[in-house]
Amino acid sequence: MSGSEDKITSLLSEGRVFDPPEEGRDQAWIKSMDQYRELYQRSMDDPEGFWAERAEELVTWDRKWDKVLEWDFTKPEIKWFEGGKLNVSYNCLDRHLTDGRRNKAAIIWQGEPEEDVKVYTYQMLHTEVCRFANVLKKKGVKKGDRVSIYLPMIPELAIALLACARIGAMHSVVFAGFSAVALQSRIQDCQAKVLITADAVLRAGKTIPLKPNADQALEDAPSVESCIVVQRAGNEVSMQEGRDSWWHEEIAADDITSECEPEIMDAEDTLFILYTSGSTGKPKGVVHTTGGYLTYAMHTCQWVFDLKDNDVYWCTADIGWITGHSYILYGPLGLGATSLMFEGVPSYPGPDRFWKIVEKFRVNIFYTAPTVIRALMREGEEPIKRWDLSSLRILGSVGEPINPEAWMWYYVNIGKSKLPIVDTWWQTETGGILISPLPYATPLKPGSATFPLPGVDAAIYTEEGKEAAPNEGGHLVIRKPWPGMLRGVFGDPERFKKTYFSRFENIYDPEDGARKDEEGYFWIMGRLDDVINVSGHRLGTAEIESALVSHPAVAEAAVVGMPHPVKGQAIYAYVTLTAAAQESDELLAELRQHVRKEIGPIATPEVIQWAPGLPKTRSGKIMRRILRKIAANDFGDFGDTSTLADPSVVDHLVEGKKKLG
Ligand code: WT7
Repeated sequence: MSGSEDKITSLLSEGRVFDPPEEGRDQAWIKSMDQYRELYQRSMDDPEGFWAERAEELVTWDRKWDKVLEWDFTKPEIKWFEGGKLNVSYNCLDRHLTDGRRNKAAIIWQGEPEEDVKVYTYQMLHTEVCRFANVLKKKGVKKGDRVSIYLPMIPELAIALLACARIGAMHSVVFAGFSAVALQSRIQDCQAKVLITADAVLRAGKTIPLKPNADQALEDAPSVESCIVVQRAGNEVSMQEGRDSWWHEEIAADDITSECEPEIMDAEDTLFILYTSGSTGKPKGVVHTTGGYLTYAMHTCQWVFDLKDNDVYWCTADIGWITGHSYILYGPLGLGATSLMFEGVPSYPGPDRFWKIVEKFRVNIFYTAPTVIRALMREGEEPIKRWDLSSLRILGSVGEPINPEAWMWYYVNIGKSKLPIVDTWWQTETGGILISPLPYATPLKPGSATFPLPGVDAAIYTEEGKEAAPNEGGHLVIRKPWPGMLRGVFGDPERFKKTYFSRFENIYDPEDGARKDEEGYFWIMGRLDDVINVSGHRLGTAEIESALVSHPAVAEAAVVGMPHPVKGQAIYAYVTLTAAAQESDELLAELRQHVRKEIGPIATPEVIQWAPGLPKTRSGKIMRRILRKIAANDFGDFGDTSTLADPSVVDHLVEGKKKLG
């Protein structure tokens, strides 16, 4: 298990328990552990009844479903609310125009420059979404078509997603930190008809051009007929005649109106595709559908964050990831809440930027990642003391296991030792949160995601497929479907089945390790596959290896995760050069640059070690366990190495590592 031994020991010794706050409990959606247990039991005894009730309460349906659930993980087949009809953008916008929320802030956008603030009421957002939906239609986009979106955290990003949902086009958002090469392969995989991008990204005071990446990606992406460009920074960009046009000109055209009838969709029609890394080189296009996903995003957003009408809710993720899809956009807007969207980074212009924003908008609910907390921890308490954080009511964490030290710092300094922290475990594939405390009900243990939400049948299984004993580590599994789960891997049903439903019979396998303590608390330990979690971002080792190997000087590469104090894990690459190539610092720098170009800055190796040979078994399989230990400076016990073809390779690598330090 990738370098997480230390983490596990510290988690095992964690014994503190923090009770939920009394204040606010009477008004909470879920008020006590008893109520949680009752709901959980009900959801297990009668899942269909439970979910039907939630779907009815939360979503406006144009037609009610005929059947709540049809499932068989052995096929796999999962259908929720079949026969039901709805439109997601109608649910996020139109219905709030008549339920008293018309003039309420839907999105408060804080740009990277302090003075760049925009507030969109539900009415204003509705108008913008309709106009842009009409632009997409004018470009020939129809129900079922794919639209790739490669934008920074600007309001147009939210508008573009909702516009796709309005006309029934599938959006495929590609995080703006990904490279041209990564964008290209994602466009090619889903055969997008339109690409939406921007001139540049504003980041930490700098203007980083984005359009050149889009241009490069489009050099070999014949499915794309139009590219719509948002002007964010005003930097010079080249526009290709007949293909490229400006967003602001398109929406201002005379024939674009502010009315656009929402396309009525089947519950099981695809809402979006989102690419994520897996064990093999090629990212998977995770498919989410309309009815189940919306129900689940709203349901979890309401219960886990205890979201109320008067709250200012801030999820610091980027909409380029699933967290932004579900908890900046669809969950909060479905509920008619106020969602804050921030363009910048936590460290610019100073390490107090987040807290300044909390005070400025009197944020009530704050949802961020452990890596952010660890980075801010290093800045000490001074940046916090400058700002009034008394509006905060609930804190959240997502993306990787939160170590008890970071948890305690968050609890004491941001939560002033009284606010609940919801440590939410989930994945791109799950669509929404599966394991998490409920803020006014669950007694918290620092570092534990606590209990499965109602409707989620989570368990720990041993290798043999039996339920593990208390505290025995094993595979985290989910035994029943939930409405927000993925319905496929775009264009690859085989991979869908193989990745998630093949380890255990008729069970969903998230590929995470975990244990359950004697009180039933879940402790997530990390990925069991060849995926590394860098700052809460998932990267496949195979992807990085193939990026490295695509450089002419590289013969072979093996990538593992190494423990990192802020990022959680960092990328450690062992590289074998071709006979013609020479080890040098220039080549090191070039290889890093090469990976940035192939995947993006988040995939840049922290360390590259020259490896004249890699530890392989006689059948040619690389023993990554050994490479992980060497990367972590753990040379004590490499376990059974008797199957290695050439054991001297290991000594060689250890020597090399000792020199690197
Ligand atoms: C992987 C999913 C879910 C949105 C962000 C990441 C890890 C996520 C937690 C948590 C321990 C966590 C898991 C999971 N993970 N949240 N609270 N505690 N681990 O989405 O990129 O699909 O990554 O992130 O390993 O499998 P993702």
